[in-house]
Amino acid sequence: MKNILVLGSGGQIGSELTVRLREVYGDSKVVATDLDPNRLTQQIKDSGPCFSCDATNREQIAQIVKDYKIDGIYNLVAILSATAERNPMLGWNIGMGALLNCLEVAREYKAALFTPSSIGAFGANTPLNGTPQDTVQRPRTIYGVTKVAGELLSDYYFDRFGVDTRSVRFPGLISNVCPPGGGTTDYAVDIYYAAVRGENFECPLKKGTLLDMMYMPDAIDAAINIMEADPSKLIHRNSFNVTAMHFDPEEIYQEIKKHKPDFVMTYNPDPLKQQIADSWPNWMDDSCARAEWGFKPKYGLAEMTTDMLKKLTEKLL
Ligand code: NAD
Ligand code: SER
Repeated sequence: MKNILVLGSGGQIGSELTVRLREVYGDSKVVATDLDPNRLTQQIKDSGPCFSCDATNREQIAQIVKDYKIDGIYNLVAILSATAERNPMLGWNIGMGALLNCLEVAREYKAALFTPSSIGAFGANTPLNGTPQDTVQRPRTIYGVTKVAGELLSDYYFDRFGVDTRSVRFPGLISNVCPPGGGTTDYAVDIYYAAVRGENFECPLKKGTLLDMMYMPDAIDAAINIMEADPSKLIHRNSFNVTAMHFDPEEIYQEIKKHKPDFVMTYNPDPLKQQIADSWPNWMDDSCARAEWGFKPKYGLAEMTTDMLKKLTEKLL
């Protein structure tokens, strides 16, 4: 890819991915956009082209793709699981609207397209331990329904029109840059903010709720590496299981306590988030991503915790 468009540069992934893409491909080669340009960081605004773009408006995407000779699109626009469940029509319209527009523009202008899927693409009757790459996908959330539909549509556009669509099923992502956007896994970010601020933390999920997670630097590497992968090696496309660690709230709490012995966490499960989390994998098998394009995360729970606490202390205190 030579010229890249990012949709959703103001979000949790977009704010870090846009910066890294500019390091890799050049500042002027990566166009940053968001529905709300106020969400873009000063660093993004200062370092390269930035626009307001509504991903549910196909013409707006097409104009930028034409003007900047875009040959790669990172579509990061979605409404995350817990927020979407409170407004299902919004979740469907934003998630599918943005994706369909991207697929059509990518087909017309011959651009490659990355659109993340999620652990939310699985459901309670999926095997939840060692969740295979190819398995039952019957989610009962609107977020999950859009992710499964998105995986299928993306494969369809590849098979039918030759659009170079590629994707990963991200687990919960943990970052110290941009706060999460209303997902079920947000607690695993919020807990670090509370620990650094010296506040008690009320966990919205029960003890024992296992979920896959990944530190943002590994997620950014995954997004770039899959788009750079040799297509002849890809047996799968939309989407690859990827994970770096799995833990329950107690394990992350105990890891933080190694650094902050006075930190206190209590439990107050949110029924909606708990129900969603219970239907998601405890841990996924990501051997296809490792074999087909060399996925290899660097951070486990201990390394991530050390880095999160250090970076958040510098940022907040
Ligand atoms: P986010 O909610 O943090 O960011 C989404 C961004 O999209 C926001 O900046 C928002 O302003 C923007 N947006 C919303 N509607 C828009 C529109 N109509 N046009 C243009 N921009 C619009 O989300 P994120 O966490 O960065 O997630 C990005 C992608 O990765 C999503 O597809 C999400 O499902 C997926 N994902 C995220 C996680 C995670 O833990 N963060 C895990 C799995 C998958
Ligand atoms: N972190 C995301 C969510 O909880 C997973 O896709 O919605």
